[in-house]
Amino acid sequence: MSVIAAKCPGIKVHVVDLNADRIAAWNDDDLDNLPIYEPGLSDIVKEARGRNLFFSTNVDEAIDESDMIFISVNTPTKTYGVGKGMAADLKYIELCARQIARVATNDKIIVEKSTLPVRTAEALQDILSSTGSDVNFQVLSNPEFLAEGTAVQDLLNPDRVLIGGERTPEGAAAIQALHDVYAHWVPSDRILTTNVWSSELSKLTANAFLAQRVSSINSLSALCEATEADVDEVARAIGQDSRIGPKFLKSSVGFGGSCFQKDILNLVYLSKTYGLDEVAEYWHQVIKMNDYQKRRFAEKIIQSLYNTVNGKKIVLLGWAFKKDTNDTRESAAIYVADYLLSEQAQVVVYDPKVTSQQIYADLDYLNTRSEEENQRLVNVAQTTEDIFKDAHAVAVMTEWDEFREYDWKQIHEQMLKPSFVFDGRGILDIQQLEEIGMNAFAIGKG
Ligand code: UGA
Repeated sequence: MSVIAAKCPGIKVHVVDLNADRIAAWNDDDLDNLPIYEPGLSDIVKEARGRNLFFSTNVDEAIDESDMIFISVNTPTKTYGVGKGMAADLKYIELCARQIARVATNDKIIVEKSTLPVRTAEALQDILSSTGSDVNFQVLSNPEFLAEGTAVQDLLNPDRVLIGGERTPEGAAAIQALHDVYAHWVPSDRILTTNVWSSELSKLTANAFLAQRVSSINSLSALCEATEADVDEVARAIGQDSRIGPKFLKSSVGFGGSCFQKDILNLVYLSKTYGLDEVAEYWHQVIKMNDYQKRRFAEKIIQSLYNTVNGKKIVLLGWAFKKDTNDTRESAAIYVADYLLSEQAQVVVYDPKVTSQQIYADLDYLNTRSEEENQRLVNVAQTTEDIFKDAHAVAVMTEWDEFREYDWKQIHEQMLKPSFVFDGRGILDIQQLEEIGMNAFAIGKG
């Protein structure tokens, strides 16, 4: 919304949320206090805030004033009832629709921005038009394809913008209206229009394909380790084939983020709902491979440390699910740490952008052990000063650039010997670490 406001000074954008603390943070004079860390975002907010971009908790007033409403609420995986652990929880979407239906007094275009199961627009349309009022609602699907860490760049220069709408004159007019918003800065040939269901399904499919690439290369990383192949060399060799392409072939400790797992589980659940068990199983495998990769990495650490990490200090570098974000949702680091903690390791975590409250909250959420025990076993460091002292092992969990720049010779000197490094992101120079005298392991290197 900030990018839309920055690019379309003539459009007034209200961002509303019930959470007053969040809104206050978005309004904070100190742009370093914005709730989301994203390179370039504070400049965009600075440009538009107070001009045509407003953050408030006054939801009803904003609904009433708007011609177009983007619904961008959470659609987490259900944790209860039918579809538990798989289906998307549409509670918040439905609440939004009911609130809009209650408040609206003039015709509106409703844009689904949240990622939703296929045919949710239909449910939205049902709720919106069931109020008996004269207000007309047109529901569009406009899934978002930005990736965290590069969100601003992705929004400024998207590969494509996708708009799904009804194939009726009213639907076409709504599509045109949204098209005109994006056309302020996106070339028309990159603005695709489809029917609503294709648009909804394309979002799930895009994430499923991306995640599948990571799981595919990660599955081969295990084979590379067992042989003398090098996963980066394999990725480079296959990526040169223009049909395969070089992107998204970086082997890792496992993909994280709020979307891949949730969207694939959603796809699996949808397929099952339609009786397509083979389709469901095919995509479920992508998640299973990812779980395997995280477990495999933790097991590698334990095995290398002579099959016990009990009481051993292990430093985890990085907690975010990827670099340049403070988002930790589904981050591989959480699961690897949990595994090590179950083996009674003493874990020290350092991440340049993630707060210690977040790290403890992520671990507590798993419910594997008590909050007190997490506090006792995990130490969150604000800086790297002294964290390597007497450590048995260091594991790179997020590919933050600064980890490459560290003086690894000095780190080695501080650690207990024999010292171990486990590179879960393939960013360190393993040969150099070996030369320093460390036992170095990287995913997918024989
Ligand atoms: C992903 C998609 O890339 C976006 O297009 C989509 O809009 C977004 O989900 C969403 O649905 O909201 P995001 O999760 O922010 O974006 O980040 P990615 O760059 O896709 O990374 C996801 C995970 O895969 C990270 O943990 C990353 O480290 C991992 N990854 C990615 C790899 O392990 N290897 C790779 O080669 C690429």
